[in-house]
Amino acid sequence: MKVIWEPQGKQKAFQERPEYEALYGGAAGGGKSEAMVIEALRQVEIPHYTGLILRRTFPQLENLINKSRKYYKSAFPEAKYNEQKHCWNFASGAKVYFGSMQYENDKYNYQGQEYDFIGFDELTQFTYSQFIYMLSRNRPTGPGTDVYIRATANPGGVGHGWVKERYILPAPPMTPIWEEVEIVTPDGTVKHMKKDRIFVPATVFDNGILMQNDPSYIASLAMLPEAERKALLYGDWDSFEGQVFVEWRNDPSHYRDQRYTHVIDPFPIPDHWRIYRGFDFGYAKPFSVGWYAADPDGCVYRIREFYGCTKQPNTGVKMDPHEIARNIREIEKTDENLKGKTIRGIADPSIYDGSRGQSIAEQMEREGVYWEPGDNARIPGKMQYHYRMAFDKTGRAMFYVFHTCKHFIRTIPTLVYDEKNVEDIDTETEDHIYDECRYVLMANPISPRQHIPAEDRLGEDPLNMREIKKGKRWYEQ
Ligand SMILES: Nc1ncnc2c1ncn2[C@@H]1O[C@H](COP(=O)(O)OP(=O)(O)O)[C@@H](O)[C@H]1O
Ligand SMILES: [Mg+2]
Repeated sequence: MKVIWEPQGKQKAFQERPEYEALYGGAAGGGKSEAMVIEALRQVEIPHYTGLILRRTFPQLENLINKSRKYYKSAFPEAKYNEQKHCWNFASGAKVYFGSMQYENDKYNYQGQEYDFIGFDELTQFTYSQFIYMLSRNRPTGPGTDVYIRATANPGGVGHGWVKERYILPAPPMTPIWEEVEIVTPDGTVKHMKKDRIFVPATVFDNGILMQNDPSYIASLAMLPEAERKALLYGDWDSFEGQVFVEWRNDPSHYRDQRYTHVIDPFPIPDHWRIYRGFDFGYAKPFSVGWYAADPDGCVYRIREFYGCTKQPNTGVKMDPHEIARNIREIEKTDENLKGKTIRGIADPSIYDGSRGQSIAEQMEREGVYWEPGDNARIPGKMQYHYRMAFDKTGRAMFYVFHTCKHFIRTIPTLVYDEKNVEDIDTETEDHIYDECRYVLMANPISPRQHIPAEDRLGEDPLNMREIKKGKRWYEQ
């Protein structure tokens, strides 16, 4: 018998997983797309089986479709590919579709559809809401099919943050992660259901076939700029191409001395320091309130946050402005660093929009919470972050965050550049805290400081590329 395709070690581990969701890869060249295209075939003997393989944009699908042409036809000579529908029709009646969803709302093109299998290739390019929407399309097309989700990913992209939180952070690789979800049925009874997922890591070093056929591929990965190289070659989820705040440092061993770290231990704010409160409104998306203290030298500390996010990333708690304001009052009455202080509120200028009735600002004023409109110049605002995050010779920055501000610490490092508007942040990412803080920084602008990078914290470098690249342009920090 002629073997058409055989999984390599890690691909086999991925294809054997019993979990509902499995994320494979985490680096370039690990054989991710191959494993995905083959996985979609698992149930094609079942006549009503329907599979779907997704990439964010249609042109990116070409690589996957080519792989399917190579393998599907040889494995199932009677299978036919329909170019218009981007669909393979198998003799049994089963179907495997290739699809994309470039724009956020393209997800609704899949409304009313059912797929037993959905495979996301390069999941970090999708938004969380697209992913979650498609989970609702993952249903049995008839009796006897296994219903599940598979995905591949590299670090980086608009989805970096939520993918890392969902698959990478909760448990070590190859450890099943269980999530309990609460479902309220129409009659009001609450049901608890469990779903499981897992991350199966692979890098190019796990793809012996590629290493043998194209040894220069590793060299090209090794020649990438620092952050991209660490991500794509070694699958490092802490660094990736397109990250906006590459200078961000969170080093618990320096929380106390505040050197070469932006995250620090909380401390009592002296009475004479000025206090600010920033605000970015959201309802279906999270809202963000942040409190800041400025020391006599103008250094700004984010000391407290109130973030309106559900347990799902980038999903709002749907709290109205009155209630947000009442919560703010409560926090300012009880927080030791805030009570009795004069607090200057600076907010997204759009909260003054009264074109659809009473503005958000007016509603909050009625509860005794006052704002002034922030400066929404986006690029200068981003530059204020950069200027303030730069460390001086002694490792001190002009901006710090108390380690209790969990959501700031979670979202700021995941911000990526917009592919079209390359100087600005991609607003598909969870950027509400970023915006809220930006208004406060713009109310206290500083001039650029000389940037002195934190000491090199590179880990292992098995290829010793650091030596090779010394002196070259891309080695510059
Ligand atoms: N099981 C396999 N059998 C044969 N070739 C494979 C296999 N897995 C990977 N390859 C080879 O490795 C190359 C890279 O795999 P691919 O799945 O495209 O990587 P990734 O999507 O992780 O970047 C493929 O083009 C193919 O030549
Ligand atoms: Mg691929």
